[in-house]
Amino acid sequence: MDLQTALRTRVSVPKVTTEEPPRETILKLLEAGNQAPNHHRVRPWRFFVLTGDARTRLGDVMAASLFDREPAATPEQLDKTRALPLRAPVVVAVGVDAPREERIIEIENVCAAAAACQNILLAAHDLGLGAMWRTGVWTRDAKVKEFFGLSPEQHLIAFLYIGYAAGEVKLTDRPPVDDRVQWME
Ligand SMILES: Cc1cc2nc3c(=O)[nH]c(=O)nc-3n(C[C@H](O)[C@H](O)[C@H](O)COP(=O)(O)O)c2cc1C
Repeated sequence: MDLQTALRTRVSVPKVTTEEPPRETILKLLEAGNQAPNHHRVRPWRFFVLTGDARTRLGDVMAASLFDREPAATPEQLDKTRALPLRAPVVVAVGVDAPREERIIEIENVCAAAAACQNILLAAHDLGLGAMWRTGVWTRDAKVKEFFGLSPEQHLIAFLYIGYAAGEVKLTDRPPVDDRVQWME
């Protein structure tokens, strides 16, 4: 697929099948992420690739965290939360390194990691996969961060849900860019 087509036809794919893409394919996605621009060449992204039971373990952490926050949560709510990571056969959680030198700027690291996420979404589209960037409250959850070995101050910016689209993927109409642009001459 040429890049212009990929850019115009990528959409979030919320429903995917349970079929797990081959590891080589997942690796291609991560390599695409690793191509993102990043200041000072710090490659601030951390990719946590969850498949199989790892998704269940993440779901358990999410449910435990919900229970901490809302002790009145019903068993149904807890079960629903526990099942969230099972919505796709592959979930790539994307963490961001905290700057360790003065010249490294936090927001620049976040920007670079976000660029890596978009590269992954585009590569997934190119390779015939469906993907969706999700955050919800979970990327800001201290227990979830701890699950990935991230400190509470570190950013977790994405859960990229990846699989094969279940059913037809409909393109969404985009508003024209005009009202977001100011030409300055
Ligand atoms: C930082 C970020 C966080 C997002 N979090 C969620 C989310 O929690 N739940 C969700 O349904 N979609 C989430 N999305 C996906 C957007 O809803 C989606 O990209 C948007 O509707 C545009 O649709 P498109 O991806 O098909 O272009 C997120 C996207 C970004 C960039």
